[in-house]
Formats: sequence, structure tokens, C-alpha cells
Amino acid sequence: MPTERIDKLIVAAGLASRSEAKSLIRLGRVLVDGIPVRDPAQKIDPEKQNLSLDGEAVCTAKYRYFLLHKPAGVLSATEDSRQQTVLDLLPPELRRIGLFPAGRLDKDTTGLLVLTNDGELAHRMLSPKKHVEKRYLAYVEHEPDPDAEIRFEQGVILGDGTKCLPAKLERLGDGLVRVIICEGKYHQVKRMLALCGAPVIRLHRESVGALTLPDDLEPGEWTELDAKTIQKALEYR
Ligand code: URA
Repeated sequence: MPTERIDKLIVAAGLASRSEAKSLIRLGRVLVDGIPVRDPAQKIDPEKQNLSLDGEAVCTAKYRYFLLHKPAGVLSATEDSRQQTVLDLLPPELRRIGLFPAGRLDKDTTGLLVLTNDGELAHRMLSPKKHVEKRYLAYVEHEPDPDAEIRFEQGVILGDGTKCLPAKLERLGDGLVRVIICEGKYHQVKRMLALCGAPVIRLHRESVGALTLPDDLEPGEWTELDAKTIQKALEYR
């Protein structure tokens, strides 16, 4: 990996502005392999050397990946003047590194959402051509019409004439269904189910590709993933 200036790495990790990073370094609060380095222009190889600030390791990865259990009532956006967004659920340093939600869940939808600053990975995750399955659980007002599975398999035609890609519908009983789609049109699952006689009461995303929410990750909680784990999870087929 090419070498990088230590002040730049501290800024990229969201820990300080450029001028703050320079003063932290000059104050001796930044260590490289355990040794204070007081020159902000000092370069290191982040793959081989350890950088720390006030005794805490500084993450030097260019791209970061977070798995969030999105709670209801929060917008899938990076900022909003009035409402809470998914980025507001992260600590301040992680709100400064260019993260965005890879795809959108409606405000009232819960479940798995990836936050990243890797545009290429987000594109791969979302592009219908890549066929990454998104699995949803939906509580519905009525059981879907008897021909709903066939309509899903053939591609539901939405009210505005848009044809969806083939999808899967599984009935789980007691007003619960699972829907598997490979794309993400606006309100897609709710619109598909409503057209099949089953308006959605509650929607939850269980998984994207082979990525699933850990059982102990409560709504509003998140965990960081490394690049290899997330890439493997999207190449699951
Ligand atoms: N489909 C919907 O209708 N809503 C979501 O939040 C996600 C998929």
C-alpha cells in the first residue's frame, strides 16, 4: 500500500480536522508503532505500521463498512434538518468520513442496512444486474391472493406500469410472509404485496446477499465489518 501522511490519516478516520490533527501530532499524542511522531508530514505504510491517538488505534482503512439494525422512525439519509437519520445513530467521528446508506429502507421499515463510503460496493449491492437478494419479512393485513406467488415469479406490474423483476413470495402463516427481491424500487415490497391483496402492516429486512443481522444486534445498534467479509457476503451465489 502507498504511504500516507499521518495528519491525513487522522482526518480520514474522522478524528479531527486537518489543523486539529496537526496540533495533536505536535503535542505528541499520536504514536507510530508506539513512538510519538511530532511531524504531521511524516508518512507511514498503513498496512504495515500502527497509528494511534491517545492510546487508541486509528483505523486507516480507506473504505469502511457498517451493518446497522435500522430502527423504525429513522430516515435512510445522511442528513435532514428536522428528522433523525441513520447517520445520527453513529458516533461523531464516524459521521465525518463520508458514509452513506447503501440503499434505502422506508422510515417505518426496520432491519439490515449497510452504511459505507465505498461507492463501488454500494453499486454492486444495489444493481439489479448483480442479482443480490434482499429478503424481507412482512406482516400483512390479509393473506396474499392465491395467485400471488405466480405473479411474483412472473414479475409484478406496479400501478404505474413498471414491471418488477421476478421475485419470490413465501407464506409463513399468521399474516407473515417473506419476500425476496433483487432490486429496490420505491416502496417496492409494500406496492407488490398491496397489489396482491396483502397491504403491509410492518416490514423488516432480514438480509442482503449472505449478510444477516447478528441475533444480538438490537434496533439502533451497529457493528463494523471488514472489507473481506462484506465482499464475500455479496458473492454468495
Ligand atoms: N420495500 C418497501 O416497500 N419498503 C422498504 O423499506 C424496502 C423495500
